[in-house]
Amino acid sequence: HKLVDLIAACPKTELHLHLEGSLEPAMVFALAERNGVILPYASVAELQAAYQFNNLQEFLDVYYAGMSVLLHEADFYDLTWAYLQRVHQDGVVHVEVFFDPQAHLERGIPLATQIHGIRRALEQGQAELGISFRLILSFLRHLSEESAFATLAQAEDFFPLIDGFGLDSSEKGHPPEKFARVFARCKELGFKITLHAGEEGPADYVWQALNLLHTDRIDHGNRSLEDPQLIQTLAERQMTLTVCPLSNLKLRVVQQMEQHPLIQMLDSGLKVTINSDDPAYFGGYMMDNYRALIEALPLTSEQLHQLARNAFTGSWLSPEEQQPHL
Ligand code: ADE
Ligand code: ZN
Repeated sequence: HKLVDLIAACPKTELHLHLEGSLEPAMVFALAERNGVILPYASVAELQAAYQFNNLQEFLDVYYAGMSVLLHEADFYDLTWAYLQRVHQDGVVHVEVFFDPQAHLERGIPLATQIHGIRRALEQGQAELGISFRLILSFLRHLSEESAFATLAQAEDFFPLIDGFGLDSSEKGHPPEKFARVFARCKELGFKITLHAGEEGPADYVWQALNLLHTDRIDHGNRSLEDPQLIQTLAERQMTLTVCPLSNLKLRVVQQMEQHPLIQMLDSGLKVTINSDDPAYFGGYMMDNYRALIEALPLTSEQLHQLARNAFTGSWLSPEEQQPHL
């Protein structure tokens, strides 16, 4: 398809990617073997067969189980390096990636192990693949405010290695306001913040993310479309939404790609970007997402260029750093 070739050749940035969600089944098995971890699955195929989700929570259960093979610095390095090599093939030149430290701290993996492994790969990606990066520490919203504050305190030694903070995991019942004080502190410390909101949770959670937590980006944001006033506010503020089409399909946020509201979002003036979220679980990386959209929706070349450009202007690169990509 001509439009696929066009967007493939275009420099791209990914703003919504959970590193633990790029853990491919083959690597789960390789790391299990290397680390002597016993898996409840007999084969890669059996593990892959478990990747059938009816909602966010069913995915998260498998996602947290999968990352149990990540124990050592080298594991976090291998995970991150594999992701960077993969998206390099897709024409991705800048990434802003999440990691979920609390999921590893709970298993006794020190923050230093996690961050040093991830950063070593990110710096190698910058040097050898020309991929610039930002690293985002994401709090788990199903855990307490107290746990988030404790994690923030532990992260203090690593602040120079972290670029911002995020909020992910089970959305329903865990509104942004639960973490208003945590993110106020992050902002006070001079960090950018980006919050998952309106994936499964209601439009009200997006309002909270905007007006109570003063977020710099919204991750997903799909359910904003249920509130015309919210659409208008997001459009006026040119708030970046990191939309994840294959994720939306796999987690049944949309029932079919043909029904994905991407074009409606663009037509409403929303600043939308395309991202892969958890590519090892949802069936594809950056170009797989674009390909699925192009096959299902009547997107124009102008709209595709707009999507790619939005990700650069919505990134945390400085205007000078963005310029060569626009
Ligand atoms: N953690 C990893 N992927 C996620 C998603 N799509 N939503 C919430 N938490 C997540
Ligand atoms: Zn996500």
